[in-house]
Amino acid sequence: MRKQIAAANWKMNLSLEKAATLMTDLLASPIELSPNQEAVFGVPFPYLTSINQQIAGKKQFSLAAQNCSNKSSGAYTGEVSVEMLKSIHVPYVIIGHSERREYFNESNAVLAEKVNICFEAGLKPIFCCGEALQIREAGTQNSYVENQLKESLFHLTAGQLKGFVIAYEPIWAIGTGKTATSEQAQEMHAHIRNVLSAKYGSEVANSISILYGGSVKAANAKEIFGQPDVDGGLVGGASLIAAEFSAIINSLK
Ligand code: 13P
Repeated sequence: MRKQIAAANWKMNLSLEKAATLMTDLLASPIELSPNQEAVFGVPFPYLTSINQQIAGKKQFSLAAQNCSNKSSGAYTGEVSVEMLKSIHVPYVIIGHSERREYFNESNAVLAEKVNICFEAGLKPIFCCGEALQIREAGTQNSYVENQLKESLFHLTAGQLKGFVIAYEPIWAIGTGKTATSEQAQEMHAHIRNVLSAKYGSEVANSISILYGGSVKAANAKEIFGQPDVDGGLVGGASLIAAEFSAIINSLK
């Protein structure tokens, strides 16, 4: 059974104090996770260590960095390496979020390097893909997303992709309050799984968790997560509110 994941992406929000309060409130919320479910927190770099201390002992709570460098070490001012993340016990890294692609010019080729460097360090990427509004309107979203997967992931081995995590985040639904319908999400998730299956076989494709991201909230999580190829969500705005995110975690199937 593949893993079901509710992942928070706090993006560039919250002070240290507010981050600690949010986590305290979440830990005090009634959250039920079955053995194949996980809550993952993509927190800003400066808070990774302290949030890790707060979730210590909570077996199904994990941490994610929101990015990492494609270089291993050296004179890259301002960058954070996978070895640094590993040394502070961060298991996941969000790779290729559309905001990184758009504002920091991260190409499919650079993202392939980031995925590789994560694997070398034993970190688990949460690989993001998804199309902009004009691509959706032109009806070419399937081939667009397929190309993102091909150019950043298809050099990997079947063994590496087993249990891999992908987040499909249509850009037109991020922070807009405009959610993809559960049918649109299911359609793309099934497409992604088919593309993976054609290349790696159904066993590998069925082991990959595909999360949906884009205006997920407590009110729509259950319906979206209820789709057969949706294995949870990557949540921005609603993950900053303890009551919202705890309800989203409890919406995992
Ligand atoms: P919102 O949930 O705020 O739409 O953001 C989605 C997202 O970008 C998560 O990575």
